Amino acid sequence: MYITNFVTCKLQLISTKFMFGGCSSASLGFVIMIMSLRCWVKMMKRKNFIQNGGKQLQEFMRSKGYDHALPKIFTSSELKVATNNYADDMKIGTGGFGVVYKGKLKTGKLVAIKKELVPKDGGNKEFLNEVMILTQIHHKHIVKLLGCCLETKTPLLVYEYASNGTLADHLQETANSGYVMGWEQRLNVAIQTAEALSYLHRAASPPILHRDIKSANILLDDHCDAKVGDFGVSRLVPDGEKHISTVVQGTLGYLDPEYFQTLQLTDKSDVYSLGVMLVELITSLKPVDAHHRDPEFSNLALLFIHHIKEGALVEIIDPRFLETIDESVAMSHEQTWRIRSSILAVASLAYRCLSLVGHDRPSMMEVEHELHDISRKLHATRFEVAEESVALL
Ligand SMILES: Nc1ncnc2c1ncn2[C@@H]1O[C@H](COP(=O)(O)OP(=O)(O)O)[C@@H](O)[C@H]1O
Ligand SMILES: [Mg+2]
Repeated sequence: MYITNFVTCKLQLISTKFMFGGCSSASLGFVIMIMSLRCWVKMMKRKNFIQNGGKQLQEFMRSKGYDHALPKIFTSSELKVATNNYADDMKIGTGGFGVVYKGKLKTGKLVAIKKELVPKDGGNKEFLNEVMILTQIHHKHIVKLLGCCLETKTPLLVYEYASNGTLADHLQETANSGYVMGWEQRLNVAIQTAEALSYLHRAASPPILHRDIKSANILLDDHCDAKVGDFGVSRLVPDGEKHISTVVQGTLGYLDPEYFQTLQLTDKSDVYSLGVMLVELITSLKPVDAHHRDPEFSNLALLFIHHIKEGALVEIIDPRFLETIDESVAMSHEQTWRIRSSILAVASLAYRCLSLVGHDRPSMMEVEHELHDISRKLHATRFEVAEESVALL
């Protein structure tokens, strides 16, 4: 490949010499220098493409018959312009992989561009993993991968832009300012996340385990609808297998204790992490907090289980759900009662998701159905509630 490129460059140089035969030797030298530079840049881009796993990706796409559905290949200059040369004020997030920038494409479309900071020896497996997984799945509550750029030193991933940040941002803001993300909105995000995960576990073929479900990986779009993101450590489940043996990956506070002990990853590991996220939604507390909580309960799941067992859940529910935010519209007794029962129902579900034994946890599909049911009851009219009560008699 390099030899071919080198020969092409040489030929270009010779033809340049002919073209500029009449020019002075100084200007000829300048042109040769520019041409050599261009050849060198081209060669470097090709080298980066190979090092970033471009060939593996092409092979994968071909093997899946995805030739026409390839994610778009962006040029480095296109993305440089979109992010104003990766300006600091375009930064929207940082994570394990690197930095994420907001970008505006020539078409005016807003995108999020993930840029790894330090190149890894032998290419970046997480990057390839994310591209391969995201090109196979399409769901309204899973972030859409628009394309990638492989000609840069480290690969770049381009996603649809989620304008409302992450669920973690909203929960933090709830904790630090007067803003409170309402209970109905939280329940919606929980349902949409469960829908996306249920699709990954049951409908995707082969099934996909996310492995890093947490509020910082749930993005929110213009309407505050959830988009599950960050598939860097996700795994495809091989045909007919129930678990995958793998080194432990995930985030402290969300990690399934059974997976941690047995190194066997199952769909119930995602159920555990979602359980922690449900507790975050109920309490607005951080999943791990060694500064403000008793060391014994720095882990939120342990704090929650302790309070459930003591019959003292009410002590950790965010009290602001039941406060009237808009002074002019007082919350009716019935409204308060509905929200309270809805929170208790989600707490009961979260408790089962946090069972130490994976087998005792509900499946993601059961979680999804139960959350839908809770939401239906929250929004049911008085007449429907009364009818349901009669049916129980
Ligand atoms: N599509 C997106 N739209 C808006 N912000 C995003 C998007 N993708 C990522 N981010 C921001 O960047 C952060 C890190 O992205 P993430 O995909 O979680 O990567 P990492 O593997 O580095 O954790 C997120 O927590 C979020 O703040
Ligand atoms: Mg992340």
